[in-house]
Amino acid sequence: MTNSDTPRKTTRIDDLPIREELRGKSPYGAPQLDVPVRLNTNENPYPLPEALVDRIAERVREAARDLNRYPDRDAVELRTELARYLTRTAGHEVSLANVWAANGSNEVLQQLLQTFGGPGRTAIGFEPSYSMHALIARGTGTGWISGPRNEDFTIDVAAAEKAIAEHRPDVVFITSPNNPTGTAVDAGTVLALHDAAQAAGPSMVVVDEAYGEFSHHASLLPLIEGRPNMVLSRTMSKAFGAAGLRLGYLAADPAVVDAVQLVRLPYHLSSVTQATALAALEHTDTLLGYVAQLKDERDRIVTELRALGFDVTDSDANFVQFGRFADSHTAWQRILDRGVLVRDNGVPGWLRVSAGTPAENDAFLDAVRELKKEHDA
Ligand SMILES: Cc1ncc(COP(=O)(O)O)c(C=O)c1O
Repeated sequence: MTNSDTPRKTTRIDDLPIREELRGKSPYGAPQLDVPVRLNTNENPYPLPEALVDRIAERVREAARDLNRYPDRDAVELRTELARYLTRTAGHEVSLANVWAANGSNEVLQQLLQTFGGPGRTAIGFEPSYSMHALIARGTGTGWISGPRNEDFTIDVAAAEKAIAEHRPDVVFITSPNNPTGTAVDAGTVLALHDAAQAAGPSMVVVDEAYGEFSHHASLLPLIEGRPNMVLSRTMSKAFGAAGLRLGYLAADPAVVDAVQLVRLPYHLSSVTQATALAALEHTDTLLGYVAQLKDERDRIVTELRALGFDVTDSDANFVQFGRFADSHTAWQRILDRGVLVRDNGVPGWLRVSAGTPAENDAFLDAVRELKKEHDA
């Protein structure tokens, strides 16, 4: 038998000497299907305006002239502009020293867990919530604790305080508005959990405000004042309509910004990324105009779904959780059969739809209206 006759054995992940905790696990994977209406990943449906596209091209062209050099490692101009944006829109004055930026808020969260979590340490989140918190914990060797929520998806403060006192986690994640439920968390709850975490820990409290701009409520940014163990995480993926850019940022005490320097890769944020983000920040007002439209559309989806007889969780985000379905996966497939992709987050009985353009939302509402008719027939 020659070499070429030997049946080739396919190597599987588990044949490799990978870390034990990664064995048999699945990667993050929202389906990227080619269907007419995609409302499954909480993207902003509006393409960037032409004037901004031109400005990005201009800024990237300038940056390209220096691509033989590493980028500004500290992203000073970009962090200064992000601080200015937060100061103007989030109700609290911050400056360059308070702000750090990375490739998407996922990387910000990863840097936070590399700094404050890691082997022998734990993080807690209140689930259902953003699935990447647990996945990034796993990737950084941080133990994960799943904390409880009330039936209506608000955080059960007493139960959360108890879980924090019992497990003494090193990092506490609070997502407001929460994904996938859309639930906002009030400042009183955040403070109660922060105080419980300091009494048990001390530990870092990470407020993930990826959807902050879509909320009916004010940003939780002012809570970082005088609380060096509290971090606010934000992104340009949603409100700025720039998911493809990969730009997330945090605001916190300057000591936190100094601490994440210990784990960030040198030159992690490319010159092209920094130039593009700076161009987008020049167009903040136009982009926030789209946010206002999306908030109206989100409210319309909530109202119309309720009128159709669905249960709908109050939403402060650019998406809506609706149900209840005896079998949410079958309902997801039926909606997909009508050309509309929504998200089955694995929350039993519920699905999630992102607010799209008015036409996309109409297509979604038509699809669920038909689903309802079929069900009632
Ligand atoms: C709650 C929450 N946080 C963070 C992110 C990550 O966003 P990005 O890495 O695009 O900034 C998302 C994305 O869906 C999210 O839902």
